[in-house]
Amino acid sequence: MGRVAIVTGGTRGIGAAVSKALSEAGYEVAACYAGNEEKAKAFTAETGIPAYKWDVCDFAACEEGVRRVEADLGPVEILVNNAGITRDAMFHKMTAEQWNAVITTNLSGLFNMTRPVWDGMRERGFGRVVNISSINGQKGQMGQANYSAAKAGDIGFTKALAQEGAKKGITVNAICPGYINTDMMATIPEEVMQKQIVAHIPVGRLGEAYEVARCVLFLVSDESAFITGATLTANGGQYLA
Ligand code: CAA
Repeated sequence: MGRVAIVTGGTRGIGAAVSKALSEAGYEVAACYAGNEEKAKAFTAETGIPAYKWDVCDFAACEEGVRRVEADLGPVEILVNNAGITRDAMFHKMTAEQWNAVITTNLSGLFNMTRPVWDGMRERGFGRVVNISSINGQKGQMGQANYSAAKAGDIGFTKALAQEGAKKGITVNAICPGYINTDMMATIPEEVMQKQIVAHIPVGRLGEAYEVARCVLFLVSDESAFITGATLTANGGQYLA
C-alpha cells in the first residue's frame, strides 16, 4: 500500500489532476470536495478514487474528515492544500463577503486542514505538505486584492511551517501555478483573457492541470526530503520570482 494522501478540492480542476497523478503513482488518495456532488460522483466513477465531502472553511469538519479518511485508508502522510476560490472585483467594488470568502477558503483553509494532520506527521517522523498558492500571490493582481492577499499568506505559512517541520521529517512547500486551463478561468472576461493574460505568457498558452500535478509528484516523493520551504513556480514564464 502506498502512502495516504488527501487532496483538497481534489475532484475538479488542478486538484483532480493531482489526485489522479498521485493515484497512478501508487499513493492511496482521498479527494476532498465541498460542494459539487455531481462532479465528485463522476470523478470517483471515472478514477476509482474515493471522494469525501467537507468544507475546508470549517475546522471541526476538517478534523472529522481527516479522522474518516484515516479510519478508511490509514494515517495521512501527504496533504495537498489545493482547494481555492476566486471572487474577483476591483477593490472599490469589493464586498466584505467577497473578501471573507476568499480569505477563509484560500488561507484559513490551510490552517484548518494542516492542523489535524500535523501531530500525526510529527509523531511518525514523516510528512509532505504541499500548498497550492498562485502567481498572483507573488506578483499581486488587479481585481484580486482578496485572492492575492490569501495566496501571499499561503507562502508565508509555508515558510514558517517548513522550519517547524524540518526536524520531524516533514517538508512543507508551495507551488505557484500561473493561469491554468480550468473552470476557474470561466469568470475572466474574454477580452481580458486574450489582451491582458495570454499575451503576457511567454510560452503563449495557458498551463494544463497535469503540468501542476507533476510538480506535486516531485515534491511529495520520499526523495525530495531536502526540499522544504520552497516555492516552485509553474507559470509559462509569465512572472519570474
Ligand atoms: N490583468 C491586467 N489588466 C486587467 C486584468 C488582468 N488580469 N483584469 C482586468 N484588467 C483591466 C481591464 O482590461 C480593464 O482595463 P481598461 O479599463 O483599460 O479597459 C480594467 O482592468 C477594468 O476591468 P473590467 O472592465 O473588466 O472591470 P470590471 O469591474 O467589469 O471587472 C474584474 C473587473 C472582475 C477584475 C475583471 O476584469 C476580471 O475578472 N479580470 C480578471 C482578473 C484576474 O486576472 N483573475 C484571475 C482569475 S484566475 C486565478 O485566480 C487563478 C490563478 O491563481 C492565476
